[in-house]
Amino acid sequence: MKAKSFNLFIKSKIIPFSKTIRVDSDKSLSIRSFLISAICQKISTVSNVLESEDVNSTIKACRKLGVKIVKVKSQKYKIYGKGLGCLVSQKNELLNFSNSGTLARLLIGILSTTPNIQIKLKGDHSLNKRSMGNLIELMSKFGASFLPKQKKTLPLKLISSNMPIGIKYKSGASAQLKSAVILAGLNSYGNTIIEEKERSRDHTENILINNNQTIKIKKGRNKIIKIFGKRSLNPINIKVCGDPSSAAFFVTLTLLNNNSLLRIRNVGLNKTRTGFYEILKKQKAKIKFYNLKKENNEIKGDILVKSCKLKPFNVPASMYPQTTDEYLLLFVIAALTKGKSSFKGIADLSNKESARAHEMKKILNQLGIKSKVSKNEMIIFGRGMIDASNKKISLGNIGDHRVAMCAFIISILTNSKTNIKNFETVFTSSPSFLKIMKSLGAKFEIY
Ligand code: S3P
Repeated sequence: MKAKSFNLFIKSKIIPFSKTIRVDSDKSLSIRSFLISAICQKISTVSNVLESEDVNSTIKACRKLGVKIVKVKSQKYKIYGKGLGCLVSQKNELLNFSNSGTLARLLIGILSTTPNIQIKLKGDHSLNKRSMGNLIELMSKFGASFLPKQKKTLPLKLISSNMPIGIKYKSGASAQLKSAVILAGLNSYGNTIIEEKERSRDHTENILINNNQTIKIKKGRNKIIKIFGKRSLNPINIKVCGDPSSAAFFVTLTLLNNNSLLRIRNVGLNKTRTGFYEILKKQKAKIKFYNLKKENNEIKGDILVKSCKLKPFNVPASMYPQTTDEYLLLFVIAALTKGKSSFKGIADLSNKESARAHEMKKILNQLGIKSKVSKNEMIIFGRGMIDASNKKISLGNIGDHRVAMCAFIISILTNSKTNIKNFETVFTSSPSFLKIMKSLGAKFEIY
């Protein structure tokens, strides 16, 4: 069921806190667990799943493609895999990806090399605006076609390839594109070879590695991923850890709030996801990872963070792939830290759920904080911690969960009066956001 719409009004500053929390489970891992289980043999189990809008859309899409999914108890599911190349759909059936770019790109990867698929694909208002151009180009190499020809955005019709043959691909910053190619390669004849030019998140590889020798990874300056097509996949059993991207919101709040301390338990700390934390640790931010463990080929652990004074940042383009979803939070920190910060290599941020750097600039403008956005760089002239009790932030319905949560955080830190429309957008990734914020002492009204 879709979350009911609601707006949020915030008018007071957060007070110091010292707490231990758990954040919502990882979105990337949850979506991948369902999609990969759907093409495994037999019954897979995933637990501690994120029960959010994007994951619900994933479950719905899998069911529409003939996959039986049973909820065993809260956050635990059994998935009765159809096996490689065996998802089915009625001709011209409609698949709705809603707000999720990850679901769209990864499932299009799977379906492009699943025989006899002719399916209509669409997203919500925000997803329908995001470019699928690179994905279309790659899937066409596997023999899939998309209609109308030349159109680069959803809605689209996909006609899959009945004789897909493996491809060679040099991957860039996008883990979604890399994953789409890996998943398409699984049901293609011959091998698919990916040379990773930039180190994007590697959850897809971590789930598939050691599974019937379907993929092999050679680590070196550029990682090489070799996918051996047409080998069936054994069932998987995954326990999803906490989402480092969701944790980053609470880390930001703690760093910038006075005299505060936070422990966050059981967070995924895979190196391809922790750019935000590395950038901050380099600035001597009081952040510590501890209790580290490896489970399902993923590192996880606890985070301890304490408030502290930070210096402005100069973030190079090389940090982009492992920091993708956390730039907005770095912008918030830069805005409330005295001095000029710059972030290079951020062009891809404009193809997210909204044109993110531009949306953040609008929020900062409303607080009287200067910033400049060009195609590939954001510069912020931070003012240090300000009291903005005489300022107002108003954020419309832009369909971007991360921008909405950033507006919330900057507002409770600066005391600005803030109106955020359609705050239910945060349910795409963080259904517990408001509950946790409340437990830390944040005050807000829902209307
Ligand atoms: C994701 C990859 C990133 C990220 C998104 C989730 C994934 O997108 O922004 O929230 O799960 O693979 P890109 O791969 O397009 O950079």
